[in-house]
Amino acid sequence: MDKIAVTGGTALHGTIPISGSKNACLPLMTAALLTDQTLTLTNVPNLADIGTLSNLLASLGATIDHDREANRLNLRVARLSSPLAHYDIVRKMRASILVLGPMLARDGAGTVSLPGGCAIGARPVDLHLKGLEAMGATLDLRDGYVHASVPRSVSGGRLRGVSHRFPFVSVGATENLLMAATLAKGTTRLVNAAREPEIVDLADCLSSMGAQIEGAGTGTIEIEGVDALSGTEHRVIADRIEMGSFMIAPAITGGDVTLEGGRIDLVSSLAGALDAAGVSVEEVPQGLRVRRRDDRLNPVSIVTEPFPGYATDLQAQMMALMTLADGTSSITEQIFENRFMHVPELARMGAQIDITGNTAQVTGVESLRGAPVMATDLRASISLLLAGLAAKGETVVSRVYHLDRGYERVEEKLRACGARIERISGDD
Ligand code: EPZ
Repeated sequence: MDKIAVTGGTALHGTIPISGSKNACLPLMTAALLTDQTLTLTNVPNLADIGTLSNLLASLGATIDHDREANRLNLRVARLSSPLAHYDIVRKMRASILVLGPMLARDGAGTVSLPGGCAIGARPVDLHLKGLEAMGATLDLRDGYVHASVPRSVSGGRLRGVSHRFPFVSVGATENLLMAATLAKGTTRLVNAAREPEIVDLADCLSSMGAQIEGAGTGTIEIEGVDALSGTEHRVIADRIEMGSFMIAPAITGGDVTLEGGRIDLVSSLAGALDAAGVSVEEVPQGLRVRRRDDRLNPVSIVTEPFPGYATDLQAQMMALMTLADGTSSITEQIFENRFMHVPELARMGAQIDITGNTAQVTGVESLRGAPVMATDLRASISLLLAGLAAKGETVVSRVYHLDRGYERVEEKLRACGARIERISGDD
């Protein structure tokens, strides 16, 4: 397993290009199941998760042509040759559940392995399943699989439009139902829907495939089902979580970094928190320019919330920054029940953090010290790298396969700004 070694203490200066969004690209890829024509995605990031979902789609019958150099992916599902999403692939990536809505919408049947929990929490899929049931699907949970079908008595075997209220906001359940509703009979109204930019990107792509959607990006989305969707070409939006992670790099080391393709509307909560911490975020023609205003970092308290609130996927990175603030900040995680696994690792580097329930009190220290640390999940991994960039001495982050799921060419991008960072290939 690869490791990454960082020697801290260098202020970063330069430009970092922002890749296409992993979390937008995954649902967009599953939208290919809704049509027999070709869906072309551009600005596709080269990441392990994209390969995993490609394998799953291929197992369902997709023909895939992926030009990695050009970040271009062509997907065509002329017919669903096998409506079974096998455990061996689904267990690697929870987003696999997003094939269920499109399969049911297209062919009225689908079988998907239940994804199971993961390191950051139990992460059930009950909201996805209840929504599809409300649209007329019959679900049978057995042998670790969801066997779903639409009886002929329901609109002749086609999902039906409903007014459905989510009990709380779920990004994935909103995406699954949005896709399912595009081919349903009648109008679907999704209330308390997620408002994340990835939902808007998906709705834009579906609309250009011929779907009738209104309200994406608000709490209520209305979808008028159509008989068929066509292919299209769609550019994946910029990755706001990669963007936010790299905004914290010059904030924690000092320096001046421009994020090429950065968009303030995608990271406004983070930009507000950084401003309060004493870090300026400025819109420039290439994207966003991030600089520390002075040597001192102010403590800032955050609470994670659905968009447009502070993103859970940027919580660990903010915590790394706050370990060096001049005072105590509190960080409350409301989305996932076990997303503080970076805390003991940051503590190994000298951070002072106390956890009570879902709140971490972070008392800033003078400096962090490099140490061997272990990545436990995707966003925890980048927070350890960020801490390493600011720490005295060398930090070696192991299990960086977590990082490779969501950050493309991370060492290269940081090295271009002066970071002393190396990948160490090989066995653990
Ligand atoms: C998406 O996960 C992202 N993944 C996550 O990114 C992100 O952290 C999360 O949204 C929240 O923003 C992708 O887009 C591929 P949810 P998702 O459904 O859709 C509970 C990263 O680091 N819940 O909004 O799975 C759930 O357990 C990742 O890139 C249910 O209880 O998240 C969680 O506590 C990790 N039942 C909360 O809702 C359900 O049926 C929000 O989850 C569905 C969710």
